[in-house]
Amino acid sequence: MHETLNAHGDRARPTDGGHGMDIASQRADELDLMAIARIEALVAGALGDRDVLALDVGCGHGGQAARMAKFGAKVLAIDVGDCAEKVAVAMRRQGVGAAAWAFRRMGIEQVGTLGVRADVIVCQRMIHYLRHAHAREALRALRSAAAQRCTLYLSASGMQTELVDGYAGQGARVDERFATLRVDRSLKHGIAQPVCLYREDELAALVRGAGWTVETVFRSAFGNVKLVASLG
Ligand SMILES: C[S@@+](CC[C@H](N)C(=O)[O-])C[C@H]1O[C@@H](n2cnc3c(N)ncnc32)[C@H](O)[C@@H]1O
Repeated sequence: MHETLNAHGDRARPTDGGHGMDIASQRADELDLMAIARIEALVAGALGDRDVLALDVGCGHGGQAARMAKFGAKVLAIDVGDCAEKVAVAMRRQGVGAAAWAFRRMGIEQVGTLGVRADVIVCQRMIHYLRHAHAREALRALRSAAAQRCTLYLSASGMQTELVDGYAGQGARVDERFATLRVDRSLKHGIAQPVCLYREDELAALVRGAGWTVETVFRSAFGNVKLVASLG
């Protein structure tokens, strides 16, 4: 029998390059559902004739990208890994046609070069792979890809999770925190890369420092930090 990763019963689905497990292809969490609700509201009329554009940054296997497309957004899925085929599979499973989505292989840092104005940006379980200063730059790059009334749905692995057991970054200030996990945690969660784990106030301060207005911050049952922000 396979070990589950958490109380949700998620299974090991490794992403490229030691960047953790893909969760979005297994279930929609509370933050994903908030993004879907926003898309539904926008599709229902607020934007008139214009398409609703959603970005899924660090999309992994494309589970949330496909859900957002299913609910009527045009979706641009972005990942530094070679995820094109997996995203295509997720789209097919949701019955989404080819005209409704695209995948671009690129790092979050390059998002500003896309020349798009997104109404919804989802970035789940990815930002902790960047050093704190780089994460701030990346979140600024997201601003330059955002429409004026864009909403950002962001999450990071948390300091109040089991990932922190034996984590070398435990005693470090957040702007200096960047370390690998203890071997057993690293193997279980497929996280081979160094990470900057966050407390709720630290992620909120990071996002504010990049020019976003933080609307909501909360923790998942696992202890990861989830956040909603706008350009307020
Ligand atoms: C743990 S997975 C999360 C996948 C999906 N968003 C989810 O919530 O299940 C992290 C993803 O972030 C991607 N990633 C890591 N660093 C990145 C970067 N600098 N820019 C874009 N994607 C990145 C990885 O390739 C991986 O697919």
